[in-house]
Amino acid sequence: MNVLEAIKKRRSIRKYLDVGVEWDKIQHVLEAGRYAPSAGNLQAWKFIVVTEEGLRHEVAKACLNQIWMEEAQVHIVICSIPERPIQHYGEAGKKYVLEDCACAAMNMMLEATEQGLASCWVGAFDELMLRIALNIPDRATPTIVLTLGYADEQVPVPSRTVMESVTFLQKYANRIKNENMIMWNWSLEMEKQAHEAKKGVKKHLEKVRKVMKEKLDKKMKG
Ligand SMILES: Cc1cc2nc3c(=O)[nH]c(=O)nc-3n(C[C@H](O)[C@H](O)[C@H](O)COP(=O)(O)O)c2cc1C
Repeated sequence: MNVLEAIKKRRSIRKYLDVGVEWDKIQHVLEAGRYAPSAGNLQAWKFIVVTEEGLRHEVAKACLNQIWMEEAQVHIVICSIPERPIQHYGEAGKKYVLEDCACAAMNMMLEATEQGLASCWVGAFDELMLRIALNIPDRATPTIVLTLGYADEQVPVPSRTVMESVTFLQKYANRIKNENMIMWNWSLEMEKQAHEAKKGVKKHLEKVRKVMKEKLDKKMKG
């Protein structure tokens, strides 16, 4: 699967089969998270893998009673460790460490898709309840919860905003007018321009030929 295929294939799944997830697949998912970019390469994150049924129940409860989560055989709780990013970048470090975790989460979800697993990003949770359920110390902040497992539902692709309304060229609100450029069909656009140029050259050559012929005819007659 190429990356764009995986991106388009991934869906938030909230119904899971009662089938365990192989450890090597979980490992692949964690590896994808570990290789995510992070500000200053500080990798200020910890990933808690939760497989125990009782703990999954606690996590689901902490996630504002999103009970569907219990069905997912694996939860990954991504915690940020803000201390070093704040030492390095001051206030900005607080923002960076959240962005780092988001990168790790997205990498994990895409690798899960590649592994044939379904997932869902869960951002709604009670931080204190999660801390208590999973013994998360003060230095770590639960930031994102992911569910992982085998899908027991197929969901339609939720609509996405059209390209021309989310994309600007050079400056904010400067809309891209050419339809091929909106679709990023550069090759189509180049082909179109080459075709137009060829047509122009052909027309010009015909004109030159006509003028030459007229001149030659005139000379012959004279
Ligand atoms: C920051 C964030 C928080 C989210 N929190 C939840 C959540 O608490 N519960 C849930 O069921 N889905 C949650 N989602 C999933 C979104 O609802 C889902 O991504 C969105 O509806 C688009 O669907 P798709 O993921 O299938 O493309 C969250 C997604 C993001 C990025």
